[in-house]
Amino acid sequence: MLKIFTIVGARPQIIKAAAISRQVRTIFKGKIEEVIIHTGQHYDENMSQVFFDEMEIPKPDFNLNIGSGTHGSQTAKMIEGIEKLLLEHKPDALIIYGDTNSTLAGAIAASKIHIPVVHIEAGLRSYNKAMPEEINRILADHVSTLLFSPTKTGYTNLLREGFEDTEKSGRTKFDKDHPGIFHCGDVMYDNTLFFAEMAEKKSAALQQNNLTAGNFVLVTIHRPSNTDNQARLTPILEALNEITNEQNVEMILPLHPRTLKMLGNAEYTGIYEALKKNNRIKIIPPASFFDMIVLGKNAKLIITDSGGVQKEAYFFKKPSIVLRPETEWKEIVENGTAIIADADKQKIKSAYHYFSLKNDMSFPEVFGDGKAAEFICKKMLELL
Ligand code: UD1
Repeated sequence: MLKIFTIVGARPQIIKAAAISRQVRTIFKGKIEEVIIHTGQHYDENMSQVFFDEMEIPKPDFNLNIGSGTHGSQTAKMIEGIEKLLLEHKPDALIIYGDTNSTLAGAIAASKIHIPVVHIEAGLRSYNKAMPEEINRILADHVSTLLFSPTKTGYTNLLREGFEDTEKSGRTKFDKDHPGIFHCGDVMYDNTLFFAEMAEKKSAALQQNNLTAGNFVLVTIHRPSNTDNQARLTPILEALNEITNEQNVEMILPLHPRTLKMLGNAEYTGIYEALKKNNRIKIIPPASFFDMIVLGKNAKLIITDSGGVQKEAYFFKKPSIVLRPETEWKEIVENGTAIIADADKQKIKSAYHYFSLKNDMSFPEVFGDGKAAEFICKKMLELL
């Protein structure tokens, strides 16, 4: 029996972990045993527990309850907690997801005590180290033993950083000095395919918010680079306000707790009041996964600074406007289905106009065939 430990902590990781957990409990039952460690990075009910419930992920075996903090302090506490559990239980490998502080903490704790690290969503790069996530993912990749990239671009990025080309090398034994890299598709796409029908049945997000399918925009804003910088957050919010005032369209914003907290600050009083008065804009608490599926599937387009939500827009064949200066998902921009608008009010507005008039977009397969988690489990059994 292969004994793996899994680290989750932030909202998107809980979602990603659901895909592997589902495989472990079904196809790989009796072959792989999974133990889940929740770092406690996200702790609000609607940032964490709701996903375990909806996606039927087993309750974490351990919760470190680390909570919020500066990067150094949050990560350090996690490393200490994870190391202790790894030393005690000696799993065959540790799975980490994505690029959060929880990912980095897992990578450091396990690699230093020679427990193989499996990084899911490896190889992605924004080439912008002002993002903490970029630092987390580079460091995590370079101490991992098995790296699973959701896209071809991710695989190529790893080659460029000196990783041996596993598809060509013929190597079959891997360790952190000789890591294996694989292009396997995206576990989030697995989940979207698996849960879409269930979500449509169970979520009442459209009715609850009085939304008409095809006539609203889904918006998420949570990145510190936007929320913690008035010169960026203000023009983004002004663009949203102006688009709804000038166009016959509604917007729904499930807001991350930090974004909401920021809007309470004095410098945002004017624009926050304008948004609250605007009856075409609905600000709601962070949405559950099922609600996000239904909102994404039925939106006219999606405006976001989230990596995951950009991808989900593509899964649902919706155009997206990216509120960042760059993206790790460059395929969706090259396909003409996403526009990088940064925090530029005019760019956001003109991207909206452009997509409003465009009816002929195509969404070729970029994120695999919905079987990424199965591929990863097979490889882990074969190679660890
Ligand atoms: C983290 C990840 C980011 C990911 C995002 C998804 C890092 C560096 N960033 O960002 O890659 O896209 O999660 O949401 O790991 N807060 C609450 N309740 C919660 C969680 C957070 O109120 O349940 C507030 C706290 O004020 C906290 C702030 O949000 O200080 C930031 O939380 P943090 O865990 O540091 O990272 P995120 O910004 O959520």
